[in-house]
Amino acid sequence: MGGDIVIEVKDLNISLKGKTIHKNVNISVNRGDIYSIIGKSGSGKSTLLRAMLMLQKFEGSIIILSTDIGKASNEKRSMIRKQFGVMFQAASLFTSLTIGENIAVSLNETVKLPKRMVENIVKFKLSLVGLDDDVYYLYPSELSGGMKKKAALARALILDPQLLFLDEPTSGLDPVSAEDFDKTIRQLNKLLGITVVMVTHDLDSFFNVTTRCCVLGDKKVLAEGTPFDIIKTEDEWIKKIFFGERGIKFQRWNQKHGSY
Ligand SMILES: Nc1ncnc2c1ncn2[C@@H]1O[C@H](COP(=O)(O)OP(=O)(O)O)[C@@H](O)[C@H]1O
Ligand SMILES: [Mg+2]
Repeated sequence: MGGDIVIEVKDLNISLKGKTIHKNVNISVNRGDIYSIIGKSGSGKSTLLRAMLMLQKFEGSIIILSTDIGKASNEKRSMIRKQFGVMFQAASLFTSLTIGENIAVSLNETVKLPKRMVENIVKFKLSLVGLDDDVYYLYPSELSGGMKKKAALARALILDPQLLFLDEPTSGLDPVSAEDFDKTIRQLNKLLGITVVMVTHDLDSFFNVTTRCCVLGDKKVLAEGTPFDIIKTEDEWIKKIFFGERGIKFQRWNQKHGSY
């Protein structure tokens, strides 16, 4: 029964400039997951995300919403792409456009709607990510780092995607803004039922939101499962990250969720 699997990566192999990045990678994301991809810097997290987003060539198969994206027609691929909301590390808003105009870009490219309606839709998206209506009229330079990320998130949500892809969304944020961003992700996941795939190296953020995850390392998947499954894995890097000095958040989480 694969009915609830929305993304399935099977025997994925990726090489970049003659260097093997992924060798026989297998993961699956279920509908409604907040799925985190973690692993050392350079372990190929972003590359894996880019492959799912059809921005990176690969061998093997990636099935998204029941479509094998490596084999599908361009038409089918573009239909699948319409279900993607994407936010990369640098929020990359157009500096010369207001936040409202930034968020509306894909909507205006997709359908011709009366200006008033576009405004209402955009303001609704702003409220979904916890930003005030006034933000609509501001320019990116007038926003704090946390607000910029949320504006980029609102832009990713503009076409009501089923899948939300985030690459290091909390990087560069202060701890309070990062926590607030995590809360927003959880709320969107609950409220809209949106499935989230997130690359992160922020352990706090990881424990705040993750329902399932995978750990990449040595070109493969070292472990996949719930955070609870992951920490039980016999792997040096995993042990180090969760039980080392930086694993304080985990130790708190562990107290709350039972004993390991
Ligand atoms: N366009 C590229 N050409 C060649 N090598 C690349 C390219 N992009 C990334 N790499 C290499 O692939 C590996 C994985 O990169 P990346 O997916 O960005 O890792 P992560 O996101 O886990 O930090 C790194 O060793 C990186 O140097
Ligand atoms: Mg990366």
